[in-house]
Amino acid sequence: MKILNLYAGIGGNRKLWGDEHEITAVENVPGIAKIYHGFFPNDKVIITDAHKYLLEHYKEFDFIWSSPPCPTHSVCNHFLNAQGVIRYPDMNLWQEIIFLKHFCKCKWVVENVRGYYDPLIKPYESGRHYFWSNFYINNKKLKSNFNIANMRASTRLTPEENLRSLELFHKIDLSEFEINDKRKLLRNCVHPELGLHVFKCAFKEIQQILTKSEVKLNKAIPKSRDKLPKI
Ligand SMILES: C[S@@+](CC[C@H](N)C(=O)[O-])C[C@H]1O[C@@H](n2cnc3c(N)ncnc32)[C@H](O)[C@@H]1O
Repeated sequence: MKILNLYAGIGGNRKLWGDEHEITAVENVPGIAKIYHGFFPNDKVIITDAHKYLLEHYKEFDFIWSSPPCPTHSVCNHFLNAQGVIRYPDMNLWQEIIFLKHFCKCKWVVENVRGYYDPLIKPYESGRHYFWSNFYINNKKLKSNFNIANMRASTRLTPEENLRSLELFHKIDLSEFEINDKRKLLRNCVHPELGLHVFKCAFKEIQQILTKSEVKLNKAIPKSRDKLPKI
């Protein structure tokens, strides 16, 4: 299956998708793209603008995941505004959702964090995330779904302890990489289990239809099944 992973970051969402797929990741910060490539050497990593890439290549994939930047949408804007950070929400998020909803034939999902305003289009919600997609996503409760943003303040961890907790939470080890603000990179991640959950939701329906028809026809597994992810 051909997968497009936009705004790839260090690949939290992608971590548990396995290696049997042909995955193209798009990230515009070279240092972050390098870490992604270190974790997923078989993925094609492109350093460019994901928003533009989507428009030019959306027809080439079977599954598209997009995680546009969340800073201008997140609830933090309440207090940031009071601190003098005065800005508009970035409409690229809504452009992608509307575009994909109307023109994309493959399975797609756009992820963001819960916002400070009522969403313009109703999302699915799971943990601290919003998801817009053309398939049903149920709310997955992660075993250790604590509030990452408040973690340091509430537990009085040192920055190093906080980094280690985030690494343990995501099961992502950044110790061998030289890059500033590793905590931010990890806070940006979709938890791998949630990334896998959404991925499974996208293809559950097809699996169920195939399984039913196989039972009915008592036939060998159809060829098209080969293309499906193992879930
Ligand atoms: C929220 S993070 C993505 C997290 C990722 N989905 C994960 O689960 O690990 C967004 C990423 O998009 C990158 N980014 C921001 N604007 C971009 C753009 N226009 N094109 C490509 N990447 C961009 C940022 O550097 C950041 O790494």
